[in-house]
Amino acid sequence: MRISVIGCGYLGAVHAACMAKLGHQVVGIDVDPRKIAELSAANAPFYEPGLDELLQDVQATGRLSFTTDISAAAGSDVHFICVGTPQTKGENAADMTYVNAATTALLPHLRPGNLVVGKSTVPVGTAARLARLVDEQEPSAHLVWNPEFLREGHAVADTLQPDRFVYGVADGSEDHAAVAVLDELYAAPLASGTPRLVMDHPTAELVKTAANSFLATKISFINAMAELCEASGADVTRLADAIGMDDRIGRKFLNAGIGFGGGCLPKDIRAFMARAGELGADQALTFLREVDAINMRRRSRVVELTRVLCGGSLLGQRITVLGVAFKPESDDVRDSPALSIAAQLQLQGAVVTVTDPKALENAARRFPELQYEPDTSAAIQGADALLLLTEWREYRDLDPFETASGVTTARILDGRNVLDPGKWRAAGWQYRGLGRP
Ligand code: UGA
Repeated sequence: MRISVIGCGYLGAVHAACMAKLGHQVVGIDVDPRKIAELSAANAPFYEPGLDELLQDVQATGRLSFTTDISAAAGSDVHFICVGTPQTKGENAADMTYVNAATTALLPHLRPGNLVVGKSTVPVGTAARLARLVDEQEPSAHLVWNPEFLREGHAVADTLQPDRFVYGVADGSEDHAAVAVLDELYAAPLASGTPRLVMDHPTAELVKTAANSFLATKISFINAMAELCEASGADVTRLADAIGMDDRIGRKFLNAGIGFGGGCLPKDIRAFMARAGELGADQALTFLREVDAINMRRRSRVVELTRVLCGGSLLGQRITVLGVAFKPESDDVRDSPALSIAAQLQLQGAVVTVTDPKALENAARRFPELQYEPDTSAAIQGADALLLLTEWREYRDLDPFETASGVTTARILDGRNVLDPGKWRAAGWQYRGLGRP
């Protein structure tokens, strides 16, 4: 099938490459000429495992191209809207500028029978509004909401073999003409057993925000338990192992630590609350305010614990932060709890050196006042305290004896509870976890 993908960020670039991999003829469109130049040269403009190789692989087939020219969408059967919906400055609500602009730009290029497929995370009600615009322009075209559930760091596999497909169509019926088109588009993953659910527009939009809100709630729940464990001398990691063995609860997303960040969970729960307010249903989501508050409290808690670890004052303390990406296998620092903690420590008088395998350039653009050192042993040299804030494999695998020889004082705060406290203490370290005795 012929496909256009509008918006070539994390979502769109991966989606375009994966659709070409599935055998479709794809054009990726973005207003940012730098992004388009990189993608045209088969380079991902961000770090995502496997994406460079996939881009090279599919571009060699001639099935994938990129352009800044929206008129290249003309002639495609299916048009995916994959632009971002960031948090509006100074408000909780999602900024819909890019979704609106992408749709308006696409409208004149629609042909009879085309599908416009929304993938961006949007406030419920958006699909119905955009469907009216599509209908006014081209009555035989359809708008579908087909939310995306990919995780950064696993984006390629999550797109090629998702857990499920959600098709939101105007009448919510399996017989809607758009269902057969999407089934053809996703024929390969459907044939290998990926389930698909057909529903109406608002339900499909809500599935996405509900899923992310649930994940955020799960993380904040375990971080609230970490607060209680700290107050009572219990160990949150053992608690998570034990409650997680109940199938109904499950162990995934129960890792207590510095909390969630990134370009999705934090802004999605806020946009969800804002939208609920507009719909007169704000009471239903007041608990998300608490989820957000627990999450943000983790950051100040780590700053306080670091002060204690450093003997009561941060002034002049040389602190090395291991990992600033919002999670491992990503160079994304959007709302990264690790980077926010590093900046707080520096503001409070510490001398902070940050290291990370992939995210240093992005971090330095946000907080140029921190020191950045790509080499782990150089970053550790002479430190008064280490903070492991993003659990990259190379930091989990650090040898406590070897590491001790580089630092001035052997103190470590394990912000992700991934180190073995016994091993580190035996090597002479003052070890501090989160929610652990
Ligand atoms: C999240 C969802 O997991 C995806 O399903 C969704 O498609 C995506 O948002 C999106 O809306 O686009 P992502 O932002 O890539 O994906 O990251 P997650 O793996 O969900 O992690 C989010 C944050 O939670 C990270 O900072 C991570 O370190 C933290 N986390 C995760 C914890 O603190 N504890 C855990 O147990 C798990």
